[in-house]
Amino acid sequence: MCGIVGYIGNRQAAPLLLEGLSRLEYRGYDSAGICVANGELHVEKAKGRLQNLAEKTQNGALLPGTLGIGHTRWATHGQPNDVNSHPHLSENGKVAIVHNGIIENYLELREYLEAKGIRFTSETDSEVVAQLLEVCMQETGTVMDALYMVLHRISGAYALGIISADEPDVMYAARKDAPLLIGFGAGENFIASDVTALVRHTRDVVYLEDGEVAAVSRGGVQIYNAMGQPIEKEHHHIDWEISAAEKGGYEHFMLKEIMEEPEALRRAISPRIREGRVVFDGMQMDLSGYARIMIIACGSSYHVGMVGKYNIEKLCRIPVEVILASEFRYCDPIIDEKTLAVVISQSGETLDTMAALREAKRRGAKILSIVNVVGSSIARESDEVIYTYAGPEIAVATTKAYSTQMAVLDLLAIHLAGLRGTIDEAQYRSFVDAAARIPEQVSEILNDRDRIQYYASLYFNHDSVFFIGRNLDYALGLEGSLKLKEISYIHSEAYASGELKHGTISLIEPGTLVVALGTYTPLFEKAMSNVIEVKARGANVLALTTASNCAEMEKRVDAILSIPDTELPLLPLLGVVPLQLFAYYVALQRGCDIDKPRNLAKSVTVE
Ligand code: M6R
Repeated sequence: MCGIVGYIGNRQAAPLLLEGLSRLEYRGYDSAGICVANGELHVEKAKGRLQNLAEKTQNGALLPGTLGIGHTRWATHGQPNDVNSHPHLSENGKVAIVHNGIIENYLELREYLEAKGIRFTSETDSEVVAQLLEVCMQETGTVMDALYMVLHRISGAYALGIISADEPDVMYAARKDAPLLIGFGAGENFIASDVTALVRHTRDVVYLEDGEVAAVSRGGVQIYNAMGQPIEKEHHHIDWEISAAEKGGYEHFMLKEIMEEPEALRRAISPRIREGRVVFDGMQMDLSGYARIMIIACGSSYHVGMVGKYNIEKLCRIPVEVILASEFRYCDPIIDEKTLAVVISQSGETLDTMAALREAKRRGAKILSIVNVVGSSIARESDEVIYTYAGPEIAVATTKAYSTQMAVLDLLAIHLAGLRGTIDEAQYRSFVDAAARIPEQVSEILNDRDRIQYYASLYFNHDSVFFIGRNLDYALGLEGSLKLKEISYIHSEAYASGELKHGTISLIEPGTLVVALGTYTPLFEKAMSNVIEVKARGANVLALTTASNCAEMEKRVDAILSIPDTELPLLPLLGVVPLQLFAYYVALQRGCDIDKPRNLAKSVTVE
């Protein structure tokens, strides 16, 4: 999705803006632009990769000046081209804005402004902000007063960065429903939509809340609430290493992030196991009284929720509903004070998930979120948050964040089962011990990645793939299938194996690739029957099972992968790793843009 960077200080702004934008490339974009103030406002934009903008500006040298804003755009309103990309100038060229989000009433505002004689240059919703600022400034004389007038007139979601030729010593920022933060330096300050854009320059940040406005100058920052009153905000320290957001010798971030899974899982699991018990330090929420759980998420986070449903229902005997955030918003959900809403999001900024969280809250649910990005909007608006500690995830396709979300949810299920007394002490201990061994077992799987690469080289040419499995293997298949389709562009679907004969089996023909998941031991025999069923119709079967069932499965299939044995609820934590690697190597073989798959964004901040 779109990215924002802004700089004010004593260094040249343009190279810093380009560098900051390059750190946001992973979020997905289709054009980019920068604006630097130097007496007047100078704008350069370029369609396509940021490299085009860097070449056009000679790495920023053609735009001298120490105040500027930059943007990577992911087109929503209007084609990706030089005109529609940001920054947008007002008609008199005095105000420049960058915007993330959507101005919902832009058509009405555009008509109003056109009636006043303002001529628009782009098709975007964002340009109305620049034009309206210019009109309001004629009344107020200052950007700040005009900005408040504009914020009262626009509806929708926005993170805004604003500079004006008339005020060369200040940059403005405003936020509602789209992330924006301020970075504090010495004699220089920054704004950004994502902390990765500025972590090379400062680790001291403040997250803006909805309705807040910041006036950022070289010597300081003043933040105001929605009523225009000055406020003090808590500063956060970013403590992850810069190298965590670099490739470190790997060809792709995705492979690097898969290889980081043992360490990420250790960070997610170890601090939460003490003396054989699951502990969530600092948790204030009393988890014991809920009669029902609703898990709300999108994409891979939703798939984690599916695993959670099977595990929580089995271990804790509480009904769990897993619901896509985009559906939850509009389905008039039934919620009471006995419902716990568990919201899962890597980025903590997914717009649908955020809106669903607010809706659940409005209806009286308590919110427990599982989030990776510290200080993100979802984390801040939850009653309780459990961080996954996966570290920054740059590849669009999630891997280590998915695994750590699942680890946290598994620990939560074990913890709840312990609280409710629905598992006995021996089972509890055994689950906890098994959870502590997971990082080591993931390392074992990663050591066998050559075999997975070999299978990828056999199967990368298929047009269509089916993932089948039952129970936890079905939930696992959903993720395996999404991983494959999003980065390799192969059509792929996941089915509950029992559903095959109710329709899907008609698609199986000689040569069809079926990835048969048979890790869930209680249903292994059933998994075998489904393998036999699809083999009989000529499918090529790549199976995934546990070490103890490998020999049995191997007799029936074309290729086999196995994972170490573990306790049942934890099987998907191991099972997902070969599927992530398989998707990666297939995409590599097909020459795909693995870290930035077409049309996708890392954090989906529009509906
Ligand atoms: O940041 P979130 O966990 O809220 O993101 C949810 C989905 O957008 C995300 O999982 C998406 O499906 C990924 N592309 C999957 O790899």
